[in-house]
Amino acid sequence: MDVFEDLKAYIKVIEEPLDVNLEIAHIAYAEAKKSNPRILLFKNPIDKKTNKTYKVPVLMNLFANEEVVEKIFGNHPDVIAKKIEKALKITPAQSVKDKLEMFKFLLDMRKIFPKRTTKKGACQQVEINGLNELPILKTWQKDGGKFITMGQVYTISPDNKEHNVGMYRLQVYNNKTLGMHWQIHKDASGFFNMYKKANKKMPVTIAVGGDPLYSWCATAPLPSGVFELLFYGFIRNQNPRLVKSLTNDIFIPEDADIVIEGFVDPNKEMIEGKFGDHTGYYTQKEPYPFLEVTKITSKKEPVFYATVVGKPPLEDKYMGWATERIFLPLIKMQSPNLLDYKMPENGVFHNLILCKIDPQYPGHSLQIMHSLWGSGQMSFVKHAVFVDKKAPSLTEYKDLAVYVLNRLSKERILISKGVVDALDHSSYEPLVGGKLGVDATGSVVDRKIRLIDDDSLLEKIAQADESVKGLKQYCTNSSNPITVIALKKDKPTKTVFDKIKNLYEFISVVVFVDFEDNNLNNPYMLIWRVVNNIDAEKDVWIEEIIGIDATKKTKDDGFMREWPEDVVCDKDVIYDLKKRGLIDLSEKEIKKFQLL
Ligand SMILES: Cc1cc2nc3c(=O)[nH]c(=O)nc-3n(C[C@H](O)[C@H](O)[C@H](O)COP(=O)(O)O)c2cc1C
Repeated sequence: MDVFEDLKAYIKVIEEPLDVNLEIAHIAYAEAKKSNPRILLFKNPIDKKTNKTYKVPVLMNLFANEEVVEKIFGNHPDVIAKKIEKALKITPAQSVKDKLEMFKFLLDMRKIFPKRTTKKGACQQVEINGLNELPILKTWQKDGGKFITMGQVYTISPDNKEHNVGMYRLQVYNNKTLGMHWQIHKDASGFFNMYKKANKKMPVTIAVGGDPLYSWCATAPLPSGVFELLFYGFIRNQNPRLVKSLTNDIFIPEDADIVIEGFVDPNKEMIEGKFGDHTGYYTQKEPYPFLEVTKITSKKEPVFYATVVGKPPLEDKYMGWATERIFLPLIKMQSPNLLDYKMPENGVFHNLILCKIDPQYPGHSLQIMHSLWGSGQMSFVKHAVFVDKKAPSLTEYKDLAVYVLNRLSKERILISKGVVDALDHSSYEPLVGGKLGVDATGSVVDRKIRLIDDDSLLEKIAQADESVKGLKQYCTNSSNPITVIALKKDKPTKTVFDKIKNLYEFISVVVFVDFEDNNLNNPYMLIWRVVNNIDAEKDVWIEEIIGIDATKKTKDDGFMREWPEDVVCDKDVIYDLKKRGLIDLSEKEIKKFQLL
């Protein structure tokens, strides 16, 4: 099936030679900020540093928008979710019609299994000398180098019984060496540990491209032991066709554009990073295993798929949207009273989840919270807000916020601790951090504050502490308005909080942010910043006022890790591309999405 036939209308072709260092990534980054982004095909990538021109074009923003995602999946993700729901609820068919439907369904199920071909695949037609022949991008100024950002990393367990594909970024160290950034919680890392124990080299093959659905499958958070390409067969209603790698035993899609094969020595590591990540912050340098490349092949006319991650919104917004919709029935299996959920992209997905439930008994929301925090990649969720059926739609954010704040009280907040995503920079210890849950399924609370305007409130607070430089109140039409305070931080934020606690007549919930990095009138980016920057166990204070410290932390706060930098575009590159007509974002949009 040629998905690209359906996608043609959404592709913008760019003929101008553009640099694989920043230029291509910055154009794609700017495109993703638009209300209806397109897929971009860069026909003539070059490396201005080495004067190299590449024969292979670069495709970016493949999951450009919701319409494109529907085309790639062949259906709206909700339709696929329904199909999954049906598969999970198979009951004995009663009528003849039911029996026929069931028969057709079971026939379709045969299509989920990968088929292996013994012939050479289309992806093995051309041999490529080394990684330097590929237009691999450097997406951010302070990145440790060039990275493959849309690689499907195929691995197998040492006993060859379990297969996995995951999308992990891959740093280019030289023509034949590639970093393997599979984080500690991910399936390939589990396989790696098995090879290490057995002291055996680990075969790995990376496929880039082919049917776009493979790339999404590589990101799908299926439980370990379930090969993600079964999902491909299920969604496409077509068996994935796989071919054996030429130098190891890993099978990969035969229609991939590019294939990189090799072995990882489990006893060797190299420093990986920095890398401007999808949290909108740089992830720090860390040791990771690496692949010694044994073979690179491609189709006759390959295309190199790449993505850029950074501050939201980006392509992963649309990939994540599909994941969110499709996984609803799977999450419901464990929590049947979960009606719906939303992971907003400015909550960087796992930093914020909004759940609508139909509670049946006291503590039901707490039960579901614990269930989420205990299952698979959902356990990375840091902040969970629960509402009931009467609440507005989960995407009507303004109304929803008021609904939640009208039901917020200290007793309805749960602070816990658990596993956090490897990329989380706010937890005081790596990989483990605070969790915050809000149960807003109850009745409206009896709380009223004395509302005064922002300037008058700022005056009162600035008198208490000079580091307070700005203030804005949100949701003043609710029982618990949120007061956001901008600090020029010169001491632990708790000191400032302690000084203003006596103002509980005027303040209910206060959120502190750094004055330099935030615009108090930009709620989209404020939410991004706040849920990124807090470890609820340490940074949330439930006292006369509820205090939230979303500032950068230092040793003075008892934070011993290095606080990462924000991901920003290179100003010269952005304005040069704007001058050349390759970026058409307005100054207002550049500011709104904090590009610089
Ligand atoms: C664009 C993009 C880049 C990603 N990069 C990484 C990465 O470098 N390392 C990682 O562990 N996960 C990364 N992920 C998330 C994984 O792909 C995701 O958690 C997936 O479910 C992992 O598969 P696994 O459970 O089979 O290991 C990335 C996701 C996307 C969308």
